[in-house]
Amino acid sequence: MCGIVGYIGKKRAQPILLNCLSKLEYRGYDSCGIAVSNGSLQVYKDIGRVKALEKTLPFIKGMVGIGHTRWATHGEPSKINAHPHCDCTGRFAVVHNGTINNYHELREKLTAEGHTLVSQTDTEVIAHLIEKYYSGDFPGAVEMALHELEGVYTMIAIMAGEHRLVAARKDSPLVIGIGDRENYFASDVTALLDYTSRVIYLEDGDIAVITADSINIRNNGAGIDREEHKISWSVEDAQKSGYEHFLLKEIHEQPKVIRDTLSGYISAGEPAAELAGDGGSMDDMLILACGTSYHAGLVGKYIIEKLVDVPVRVEMADEFIYSGQAAAGSRAVVITQSGETLDALKAIKKLKETGCRVIAITNVVGSTVTRTADRTIYLRAGPEISVAATKTYMAQLIALYWLALPYAKVDIKKLDSLVTELRQLPVKVQQVLDNEAAVADCARQLAGYENVFFIGKGINYPVALEGALKLKEISYIHAEGYAAGELKHGPFALLGEKTPVVAIVAQDNTHEAIVTSIKEIKARRSPVLAIVSEGDETMTGLADMIVTVPRVDPLFSPVVNSVVVQLLSYFAAKERGCPIDFPRNLAKSVTVE
Ligand code: AGP
Repeated sequence: MCGIVGYIGKKRAQPILLNCLSKLEYRGYDSCGIAVSNGSLQVYKDIGRVKALEKTLPFIKGMVGIGHTRWATHGEPSKINAHPHCDCTGRFAVVHNGTINNYHELREKLTAEGHTLVSQTDTEVIAHLIEKYYSGDFPGAVEMALHELEGVYTMIAIMAGEHRLVAARKDSPLVIGIGDRENYFASDVTALLDYTSRVIYLEDGDIAVITADSINIRNNGAGIDREEHKISWSVEDAQKSGYEHFLLKEIHEQPKVIRDTLSGYISAGEPAAELAGDGGSMDDMLILACGTSYHAGLVGKYIIEKLVDVPVRVEMADEFIYSGQAAAGSRAVVITQSGETLDALKAIKKLKETGCRVIAITNVVGSTVTRTADRTIYLRAGPEISVAATKTYMAQLIALYWLALPYAKVDIKKLDSLVTELRQLPVKVQQVLDNEAAVADCARQLAGYENVFFIGKGINYPVALEGALKLKEISYIHAEGYAAGELKHGPFALLGEKTPVVAIVAQDNTHEAIVTSIKEIKARRSPVLAIVSEGDETMTGLADMIVTVPRVDPLFSPVVNSVVVQLLSYFAAKERGCPIDFPRNLAKSVTVE
């Protein structure tokens, strides 16, 4: 986690660094700081968000600098633990994204050698190591310091009076932005959209030195050329465009995301071909992911099992690392919108060691997963800024439908109607969005409770899990997602007037069973909010609140129902005055274990 940025060029670094950092806050936002070289190093940092730091800063003249926005791993969020971190002389400063595993030993060694380390962070050792090794060659000293580190150490270093920045990539992302007589480093291209669309994605082990008009990259001691890429995301994609929060904008972008993701696949042919066995059939499948992507994977299980009639196993990547099993030579799908989730990357490592072929589904071009998987299927969701995933989850669902459909064991008439419905989903999702006010009314009522259950059955069980995760994440209401039938096996003890239940009532073979569950819940006096399909009257007089969604084939019901649970969470969080786009303690890409 953490966002890092560097600038060198002909403009004042301060406003550029702050602007880039504000775009990286989704990676962490408990503290932030910048260091600018103006002869000497000017270092300013504090707890809190970039906007708050900005207000406290003087006018800094220098045209080279680095910046950081933090998600604490070692040491609590505090001014002293905020980056940049300096050496004893104040000549060197570093910003870092990752964790140094051997920092304790390094710290002890450095202290014994006379260095005074002031923070609780692992990062500070890097600045002191650079100081230790510096004897006139700044990039050389950084390289020697890096040799001592174990762990994840993507970092940028600055030296007072030097017209160079030195950076290294190790296990977390770093890009170089190429400008006109100016160059940038950033954790992610979204930070650079205001300045350039030309980027180079650095690879693991790369050490890059940039000046205003040169870029030199080395790996394993040898110079190396890395390809330049053009970013297709626009500045507007990463702005709120009149919405109060990124989250609401991103929820509203979903009709377009479905269209873009589908049209990308249609024009590229069939991404699913990769999954076909030798006989052109899809074998059993393993899907690995975390959080919301895991929930998309669970929906994928129902889609594939229903359509293709092959067994699908879905596991949390973070659990699979320790206890999962995969057969040598089998294929696995890893879903990660950011492409940087460490648990997902570790799962891929394990899969590859087992001899599996890995297909990644991700939204971020150039992300680490794209380099570690055998093949990548891209989502076309555009940049997702809000920490809570919504539109990327939607794109993941669409990718999974698209993967399954070519192997569907259904007659051609059914297949045609499914494809037609898939293409109509943007219209259906728009209808849900047009009903936003009704969902907001229900959300305002939910906002007054401290515990909420979400229940679903079959293909909508993962939607219940996702609804609960979303509500917890952004409104801080404790929520649990359950398979409707499971509620009576224990959680019923918690039902009552103070514990509402959001029930997803789908028009499929689960309908009767979930209606029965709702009756049992009502008998325990829990308020019920039912999400029902148009024309379903079974909840009238039974549920306390009803949200109606357009009718779709049951296979696509997670698409429309998910939008409702996203909106519910958003409006509940808004009612409670929560910092919706940047929930406490979270970060968008979780690059630590
Ligand atoms: C989603 O709202 C969460 N912020 C989180 O669960 C997320 O989905 C998870 O960390 C996985 O991220 P990834 O898709 O980037 O791998």
